[in-house]
Amino acid sequence: MSHSTSLKMSKPVETSLLDSGAQGIIGQALTRTEGPLKVSGSATYAAEYDIDGLCYGVLVGSDFGRGKITKVDADSVRDIPGVIDVVTDFKNFARNPQQGGETKAPTQGVEDVHYFGEIIAIVLGESLEAARDAARRLVVEHEPAEGRFDFETLKHQKEKPSSGDTDPHFSQGDITQAMAEAPVFVDEIWTTPSQNSAAMELHASIARWNDDGSLDVWGSYQMPSSDKQQLAQALGVNKSKVRIVARYVGGGFGSKLGIAPEAIAAAIASRQLKRPVKCVMERFQVFDATVRRTNTEQRIRLGATKDGKLTAIGHDTVMSQLPDESFFEPTGVSTHFLYDAENRQINHDFVRMDQLLAGSMRAPGEAVGMLALENAMDELAEKLGLDPIELRRINEPEQDPEQDVPFSSRQLIRCLDEGAEKFGWDKRAAPGTVRDGEWLIGIGVAAAARSNTLKQSAARVSIDATGRATVETDMTDIGTGTYTILAQIAGELLGLPLDHVEVKLGDTDAPPGAGSGGSWGAASSGSSVYLACENLREQIARQMDVDPQAMTLKDGYVTADNRRVPLADLVGEGLSAEGEIAPGSQEKDTRQASFGAHFAEVGVNATTGEVRVRRMLGVFSAGRILNATTARSQYLGGMTFGIGAALTEELIHDPRNGKLVNHDLGEYHVPVNADVPQIEVIMLEERDVHANPLHAKGLGELGTCGAGAAIANAVYNACKVRVRDYPLTLDKIL
Ligand code: MOS
Repeated sequence: MSHSTSLKMSKPVETSLLDSGAQGIIGQALTRTEGPLKVSGSATYAAEYDIDGLCYGVLVGSDFGRGKITKVDADSVRDIPGVIDVVTDFKNFARNPQQGGETKAPTQGVEDVHYFGEIIAIVLGESLEAARDAARRLVVEHEPAEGRFDFETLKHQKEKPSSGDTDPHFSQGDITQAMAEAPVFVDEIWTTPSQNSAAMELHASIARWNDDGSLDVWGSYQMPSSDKQQLAQALGVNKSKVRIVARYVGGGFGSKLGIAPEAIAAAIASRQLKRPVKCVMERFQVFDATVRRTNTEQRIRLGATKDGKLTAIGHDTVMSQLPDESFFEPTGVSTHFLYDAENRQINHDFVRMDQLLAGSMRAPGEAVGMLALENAMDELAEKLGLDPIELRRINEPEQDPEQDVPFSSRQLIRCLDEGAEKFGWDKRAAPGTVRDGEWLIGIGVAAAARSNTLKQSAARVSIDATGRATVETDMTDIGTGTYTILAQIAGELLGLPLDHVEVKLGDTDAPPGAGSGGSWGAASSGSSVYLACENLREQIARQMDVDPQAMTLKDGYVTADNRRVPLADLVGEGLSAEGEIAPGSQEKDTRQASFGAHFAEVGVNATTGEVRVRRMLGVFSAGRILNATTARSQYLGGMTFGIGAALTEELIHDPRNGKLVNHDLGEYHVPVNADVPQIEVIMLEERDVHANPLHAKGLGELGTCGAGAAIANAVYNACKVRVRDYPLTLDKIL
């Protein structure tokens, strides 16, 4: 009894079954189904599993920037009561294989250290305290080597990244000539610092080898199916031997897309010790040795006619990355499609540095690219004497400005216009002219845009003999609402109330899901659940001997031909089906992105230069909204990170050795409650038939793309100071 429906998105799906669903739970503002478990402390996170015979591993990182380990002196800690052993495997702990980077086979022994804090050993103890004490006291000897640590002195040694899905260098027309001829232009440099994802839950793994040579790992990961492959490759075992369980994940924001050093360290130590090992990274290690967002230096060139028509758009980014690593922050993604202009150049280049791996973090690309681009648009509008919304209207493209393809859907201007009205944009005054006591007040606007991705994803949906449904996939819920949304989709399509649908996530024994990343999670995994349910509906229709379109499923009953039959009476011993969605040519036949508009009001203290955000409004269009509450929460979180990007978040590397000097949440400032003002979110109705059968697009990261630029534009409007060096701390404003 193996039923399955798969769909490769090679043409639009014009009608969605969700439109005809009778249950009425799609799009509803429903709170999370697993919420009570989380707030009562009964949702089990990775580090909380109680495994028989568990011992504790604490990681040790290098305390120098570049060099060679000559000795790890395990004898220096063996006498500490409770210490079991010290395991070293430098090469493997070293690289966090984010984005599918190569993980080499395990080798014991002395290896190069590539950056400060790189993990070089794991100390095992009967208790966490013993292991931690020994980790602090472990004697490690090394030979230092020359390193590259200072971006400022290195930044002219540029290297083009190798081409992956997107070409790091793009050019169309002649930007140099167009800039030379432009009567009005902006040509400035923006800088953004290294940043950390700063997920609340620490990276954690428990590894246990079984007698049959298989490995169970309870971990905190965003993408179990690909993480399983990475882990298997790192350990030199077949991936069928590895099972990952990640039922609840306390945030990832990119830092848990790939496996982190603690997973490999725990697995290797567990294999060596022949007992389960738990390893939780310490907060400073999460900063030092998982992944960071790169710092950037971005040159934006905008050339325009006197009436505001863009003739040139240039966006050249230089970023830092470890030697041999291929991931580059695609800062220019939205620059490719946001505005019309004949002459275009979008380049991304590396500066090779001996610093922590740069990888994906919270809308990699747009999040920092739009800090610069949307600031530049504000500057250009001022030079033209145009309202910034008008400037965007004038340069709204009818189709993709670089390729001859339409947008799958695009409501940027509608978002800007609705936002302007709701926010009171017409009250915007000349820069530096509005004052409230000691505060200078300003408002700013920026576009939001985030490219849309569909990821291959599979799920199984079963209905048992009592008419209750179960959804299974190794997709994760990283705090985003997956449990709830998948229950809604299955409930809607099978005519079942939410409490009749159980969703089981985060176990690689289930069909491989999309994982959580790149804002593709809900749409991709939701589509696979949709397809499985479509298959089940066909099976049910056969039992009723009717056409699937002719029946209505609601409240556990199937109605057709004047018959109303309990679902349970039609499923016999039970029904099951798998659904699988895969990207197809639709992604190339259309330009797919979600859009929006950010509005911000800030106060700048006239004496101290302190910036306080007073209110924000985001208006977004991202296809069908599956759950108004979880969608809104995603937007609120994204906009909050916009505050961080604009005002507070900045990793500081010591230019002598690359050490992160503010590697904790006390010194690395993510916005806290007191920093977050009134935030409003408006979601515009939309369907995207090109995206997937749900007609929904990604939105998790949309809220952060452009948000920081709106704040920076508001700062200028408040105090007439342009700061192009993020974050906009008071020392730069004064
Ligand atoms: Mo996201 S930065 O792709 O988790």
